[in-house]
Amino acid sequence: MLDSNMKPTSRIAIVGVGQVGAAAAYALILSSIAGELLLVDVRVDWRDGQVRDLSDVAYGINSGTRVRAATHREASQCDVVVITAGSRWSIGETNIQHMHRNVSVMRSVIKAMTPFRSDAIVLVVSNPVDLLTSIAQELSGLPRFQIFGSGTFLDSVRLRGLVADKAQVAADAIHLSVVGIHGDSQVVAWSNATVNGVPLDKFLPPDASGFGHADLEDQCRFHAESIVQVKGSTPFGMGSAVASLCASVLLNRGDVRPVSYFQPDFGCCFSLPVVLGRKGIMRTIGMPLDDHEKAILSRSATKLRETMDRIKTSQ
Ligand SMILES: NC(=O)c1ccc[n+]([C@@H]2O[C@H](COP(=O)([O-])OP(=O)(O)OC[C@H]3O[C@@H](n4cnc5c(N)ncnc54)[C@H](O)[C@@H]3O)[C@@H](O)[C@H]2O)c1
Ligand SMILES: *[C@@H]1O[C@H](CO)[C@@H](O)[C@H](O)[C@H]1NC(C)=O
Ligand SMILES: *[C@@H]1O[C@H](CO)[C@@H](O)[C@H](O)[C@H]1NC(C)=O
Repeated sequence: MLDSNMKPTSRIAIVGVGQVGAAAAYALILSSIAGELLLVDVRVDWRDGQVRDLSDVAYGINSGTRVRAATHREASQCDVVVITAGSRWSIGETNIQHMHRNVSVMRSVIKAMTPFRSDAIVLVVSNPVDLLTSIAQELSGLPRFQIFGSGTFLDSVRLRGLVADKAQVAADAIHLSVVGIHGDSQVVAWSNATVNGVPLDKFLPPDASGFGHADLEDQCRFHAESIVQVKGSTPFGMGSAVASLCASVLLNRGDVRPVSYFQPDFGCCFSLPVVLGRKGIMRTIGMPLDDHEKAILSRSATKLRETMDRIKTSQ
């Protein structure tokens, strides 16, 4: 815990305090990195309930983080703005219709917050995260390095944890990233996976039973799907991922993280590892990928760009 003469002064806003937003707030309060946490939601009574409940956490652990309700406009003036707003699926709605509704939620969130403080960092968590990060970026008017999506960060954490268990080493010794478009077309960059620099496949031979790349990917997919099946979301995993990304930014840590950001060669956002710090994306890494991995990335990026074009014309 920070002592009183080291009180944190940064402000973080969470826009959409449903399951994921509330878990993110909880993790942020426990980590004491912000002086103030502003909670925003269109469901005002619900928002106020979350503020009161989470204030008890802040008092209970003497966190130094004050929790309060706020408007979209106040949120836009914070150091970091986390967007976890979303829309529940309605009965009879197709996937495409739901996607369009998710897009309009993002549009209204950004519109209600523009103009942003010129040095605000925006973290998009709402799904479909790469599409919504691209849209938020276009509408926000912020420089591209100040806005990024949680993308495949949680997928990477999950896979790294699974591999670490199998290899019986600590997760932070495993260098392994999931990259690309979050969801069905994300790619594991196996070709550059290492245990502290030693190629992973030497350390954990993929032909040994249960260690095959496809096996490990299946186990990760099952892990995620089985949480969503019973809980409808993955709040604790995502909440702690949000707190970790906010710490990378506010504490200017230089952590290397796969997040979703604008890829000029592809005209849309998807995840690749970058260096995170106080100004957002401090630099890109240029991680080498093999031809197979590159082919999947470029195919799925083309599909995402087509979706973006269709959304623009149907507007
Ligand atoms: N990228 C990832 O890996 C990942 C993981 C988990 C969840 N998510 C995404 O995070 C989002 C939130 O998930 P959840 O389970 O917390 O959903 P949820 O339905 O519990 O919460 C969404 C909240 O957003 C609020 N909201 C709607 N429109 C708003 C607006 N215009 N302004 C402010 N608030 C608004 C709702 O009232 C609700 O409280 C979803 O899009 C989900 O897909 C992403
Ligand atoms: C729309 O958002 C909801 C949650 O807010 C998410 O569960 C769903 O996957 C999204 N739909 C699409 C098509 O991305
Ligand atoms: C990373 O990938 C590139 C391209 O496939 C390859 O040349 C390089 O040897 C890989 N590095 C490691 C450590 O495996």
